[in-house]
Amino acid sequence: MHQSLILAAGLLLAGNAWAMRSGNEPIQPIEPATVSDAAKVELGKQLFFDPRLSKSGVISCNSCHNLSMGGSDNLPTSVGHNWQQGPINSPTVLNSSMNVAQFWDGRAKDLQEQAGGPIANPKEMGFSHEQAVAVVASIPQYREAFRKVYKNDTITVAAITDAIAAFEKTLVTPNSRFDRWLKGDQQALSPTELDGYRLFKDTGCTACHNGPAVGGNSFQKMGQVAPYKTDNPAEGVAGLTGKDVDRFKFKVPTLRNVELTYPYFHDGAYWKLEEAVDVMARLQLGRQLRPDEIGKITAFLKTLTGEQPSFPLPILPPSSNDTSRPQPFN
Ligand code: HEC
Ligand code: HEC
Repeated sequence: MHQSLILAAGLLLAGNAWAMRSGNEPIQPIEPATVSDAAKVELGKQLFFDPRLSKSGVISCNSCHNLSMGGSDNLPTSVGHNWQQGPINSPTVLNSSMNVAQFWDGRAKDLQEQAGGPIANPKEMGFSHEQAVAVVASIPQYREAFRKVYKNDTITVAAITDAIAAFEKTLVTPNSRFDRWLKGDQQALSPTELDGYRLFKDTGCTACHNGPAVGGNSFQKMGQVAPYKTDNPAEGVAGLTGKDVDRFKFKVPTLRNVELTYPYFHDGAYWKLEEAVDVMARLQLGRQLRPDEIGKITAFLKTLTGEQPSFPLPILPPSSNDTSRPQPFN
């Protein structure tokens, strides 16, 4: 009895020491999503996978944010309607609910506002909001699902994007090995990975890549110390504000699941994570890292891969005789 009390007190102390230490880290663990409206999330999931929200009937959100590939398309820039080349690399949708704002330049304030963009973008899904609403409203099972969730007989683009956003909020990736380490499992990281994390902090990476998403929470200039050379015309936040100080300011990307979301940077110019780490150290921090240091940081970054969202493939309700036909070839 006595002994076990002492043991318990000892464990408690050890536990507290851990909790305090991990509380002082610049990165916090990701918690699993809590679902308050399962029917809405299910509807949003169907819409996310539904290519009928595009003019061609081929492109869905999942085409460019493939949930089998880390929520990205693994292309330098995406392929849109009529095989058009997209302007910029497709960021992952995983953990995107943690972003301060959406898009590389932050021009959408949240996931709902963002979701309206691609549907009507002539270079992405090539549709209009009216056409997307008409397609959804022509499908009886969708009408029924919207009536249940929104208590309304009229389907709107606001409801469509609200449902998609609700689904996207569930796309978090908890339980990465790094998070298990943060929560006290000392075996979760190898000595090399732990060295990599220390280097990541000591080199200064956490100045910009911090918080639960290891990024996503600020806009920073690409090329703080030395300019980034690219053929991509994107100007970052300056494209919105017209201000010179905002040139090449981009949202700091999340580094969660970064081993899955190659190629890297807004122009998708770098396929190797080691190269991206080297570019960052030189251009953002003026540091030339040795190959073994780059290897260690890369090993650490790979521990940020969490549990991927996993669920049965949603089965989409069939079109009706009133559904407008897809136009894949014009
Ligand atoms: C043709 C490819 C394509 C399609 C289809 C597409 N996206 Fe995207 N998505 C992109 C690209 C490229 C960006 C980055 C654009 C930018 O920042 O200017 C992006 C950005 C985003 C972001 C912001 C992520 C971040 O970190 O800023 C979210 C969220 C997102 N898309 C969700 C969706 C949803 C939901 C749909 C379906 C309604 C969709 N996308 C359809 C290519 C696509
Ligand atoms: C001053 C802020 C800042 C610092 C410091 C910084 N980064 Fe970044 N990081 C960014 C920004 C901004 C981008 C996006 C740049 C772009 O795409 O043009 C980025 C992109 C990345 C990417 C590519 C992610 C993707 O999905 O495309 C990786 C990997 C990365 N950083 C790792 C690091 C590492 C490792 C360090 C430390 C050696 C570091 N960063 C230091 C701001 C920073």
